[in-house]
Amino acid sequence: METLLLQNTDKDIARAGEILRGGGLVAIPTETVYGLAANALDGAAVAKIFAAKGRPQDNPLIVHISHLDQWKSLVSEIPDRAMALAEAYWPGPLTIILPKSDVIPDEVSAGLDTVAVRFPSMRTTRKIIDAAGVPLAAPSANLSGSPSPTCARHTMDDMRGRIDAVLDGGECNFGVESTVVTLATEIPRLLRPGAVTPEELREVLGEIEIDDAVLGQLKEGVKAASPGMKYKHYSPKAEITILKGTLDEFVKYTELHSREGDTDKTFALCFDGEEEIIPLPCVTYGREEDSLTQSHRLFNALRELDEQGAEKVYARCPSADGVGMAVYNRLLRAAGFCVIDFHDE
Ligand code: TXA
Ligand code: MG
Repeated sequence: METLLLQNTDKDIARAGEILRGGGLVAIPTETVYGLAANALDGAAVAKIFAAKGRPQDNPLIVHISHLDQWKSLVSEIPDRAMALAEAYWPGPLTIILPKSDVIPDEVSAGLDTVAVRFPSMRTTRKIIDAAGVPLAAPSANLSGSPSPTCARHTMDDMRGRIDAVLDGGECNFGVESTVVTLATEIPRLLRPGAVTPEELREVLGEIEIDDAVLGQLKEGVKAASPGMKYKHYSPKAEITILKGTLDEFVKYTELHSREGDTDKTFALCFDGEEEIIPLPCVTYGREEDSLTQSHRLFNALRELDEQGAEKVYARCPSADGVGMAVYNRLLRAAGFCVIDFHDE
């Protein structure tokens, strides 16, 4: 199949809408990452998403809407606390899970009795949903296991020949996926951290729980509340080790290990300005004190490490506060949970 590259014009957005209405797949920009979209109400179209990505069948999809009104028909009911959350943070990088209605095909919910819904803030995304005239199911537009794409080129790299079209809407502003919170439990539960922080959720919801999978690795045999969080994820081909400590400790450790026979395929994933001091080829992912530049650049940096042929990577550890929780969560998965903490006893 030839994959069309569509532009961010009214004509091409209309074309994307036609393809989606006809049961095809179009990768679309959003403010978080590129999504691989299909008509959410058409089970056969949604099934093609799983095939194109190589996605495990038990991993449910997020349904994207362009008007608040569309939400009602997708869920069994909208409790007050859900509406309050939507009013505070929609449109935006927040996904809300509620018990689903009958219009949601099993392919979307992967057999669960809930559905995840998001109302994106990027104007182009909403125009595409409007053009399709239906809500769009869309996971991130990467091959399963790879870092989520944050520009049209990375989306094409993964999806060329597998889907009908990619619509180029430029670089994604935020750069990591939306915050996912479930309101299908008595106490709201954060399943995936994103741009909307736990503090911001608490402002509206009061008490929330943070799922164990957010900052750690689920133990063998524990069922994941959010199926996507159990997989090793966002991974470049290189093996990543996060070094938790100061820049000084990072430099000492990598100096020692380069003498011990790491090759020229050993890289550092570090913060801006640290390249001068670190004795390895470096790929940077933002400023140390600025989680938003880190989220914007992390997935790009992971893909760049692959492009440069990195086999082994030592990564500087980001702060896990606020928006940083999302950055840390993604990097931890990219590293397969491999962290060396210099301050552990
Ligand atoms: O920012 C985003 O959310 C992007 C853009 C395209 O909107 N989409 C995205 O989708 O990241 P995906 O499929 O890569 O991640 C969806 C996550 C997965 O971890 C999945 O398991 C979880 O949300 N999820 C979806 N529906 C769920 C449900 N009903 N219950 C629990 N977890 C759910
Ligand atoms: Mg994904």
